[in-house]
Amino acid sequence: MRETARGCFVFLLKKSVMPGPGSYLIGEDEITGILEVLRSGHLYRYGSADDDQFKRKVHTLEAEFAKFVGVNHAVAVNSGTTALWIAMKSLGIGPGDEVIVPAYTYVATYTSVLFAGATPVLAEVDDTLTLEPEDVAARVTERTKAIVPVHMLGNPAQMDALLVIAERYNLKVIEDCAQAAGARYHGRVVGSMGEFGAFSLNYFKTFTAGDGGLLVTGDDELFMRAFGLHDQGHKPHRLGTEVGRRDILGMNFRMNELTGAVALAQLRKLNHITEQLRAQKQKLKAALGSLPGVSFRRLTDTTGECGTLCTLLFEQPEHAQQVAKRLNTTTVSASGWHVYSNMEHIIKELSERGYDIRRGAFPKTDHRLDSAINLSVGVVDGGLGSAFGINIFSSDEEIAAVAAKVCEAVNE
Ligand SMILES: Cc1ncc(COP(=O)(O)O)c(C=O)c1O
Repeated sequence: MRETARGCFVFLLKKSVMPGPGSYLIGEDEITGILEVLRSGHLYRYGSADDDQFKRKVHTLEAEFAKFVGVNHAVAVNSGTTALWIAMKSLGIGPGDEVIVPAYTYVATYTSVLFAGATPVLAEVDDTLTLEPEDVAARVTERTKAIVPVHMLGNPAQMDALLVIAERYNLKVIEDCAQAAGARYHGRVVGSMGEFGAFSLNYFKTFTAGDGGLLVTGDDELFMRAFGLHDQGHKPHRLGTEVGRRDILGMNFRMNELTGAVALAQLRKLNHITEQLRAQKQKLKAALGSLPGVSFRRLTDTTGECGTLCTLLFEQPEHAQQVAKRLNTTTVSASGWHVYSNMEHIIKELSERGYDIRRGAFPKTDHRLDSAINLSVGVVDGGLGSAFGINIFSSDEEIAAVAAKVCEAVNE
């Protein structure tokens, strides 16, 4: 174990590379929270207000996270995928409806729409690697009900333009913030700009509880629905049992107190995590300097992004492929389930609905992703194509060494 500058005890596990930034900071606070819950014997999210044994980790997490995002409400759930699904269902999105989503995102952005009974309509991403607003506008039909801007790789989507389109066509906006907890877009925290913001707490995310999710909204009525959907129709912040007072159907996507304890401890470190990531990324960019034939991904908010990844955009896709090979990594297009053309089951499902989304369907996205390499800063994930790079604790020497390897591979 070692103590970081900020006093968080961090376990230096034998496996020195961890998948997400939050996982590096699992330490005494998470352990204390878990033990507090275990010693109380009260593992369930509900309990009596007068019961000292009830530690209210999930309630507190919801209250603190809503405050963090700057909205009235948060519901803690079991994954980012269910947070997205609950958002769709709360907005009444269902069979016959279309939802516009980016061609570069994690598969859950599509499955949450499909499991709501609606159809995801994919749109191009541009050099921000987030939805291209012009293409979104071009894909709106009378069946379109919502847009899902995905704040991909920790950088906010182009919200100003997307909110104008949503307003013009009367569309709902569900922000997929799974990869961007802690990011800001021109002063606004991601998740606070649409009807809903959906967050993931899986192991690859900026803050983590292993798995879990948070759904936020500023709307009282939507919150009532979302809470009911996550737990058999119950009303928000139910403490005891209710009989015969439910007016919507729900399922069980509750978070338990153990997960809540870890998530709460991690939430309290989130600002520290993003500050650290941004600083590490600045160092990496400075060490890389200017690379011939290569630019950095365009950021919508250079100081507000999470800084989890550093994406290089090559002028020539062939050059990107050569460099990826030299670094023993992949271009983004060759990475896993974040690229539409790598999702065989989604391709099959949409082809049955008359949408051909095989490679070539989104030429601008193909070109961008063929020409891009993700260097890790805090998210080390082969599935994102970010197996190579630095992490939240890399020393200045390690950052310099990684940058030197990249420069050598680019110039070879
Ligand atoms: C963009 C995006 N949306 C949604 C999800 C789903 O989150 P979870 O894994 O918690 O279900 C993820 C998780 O990787 C994601 O990256």
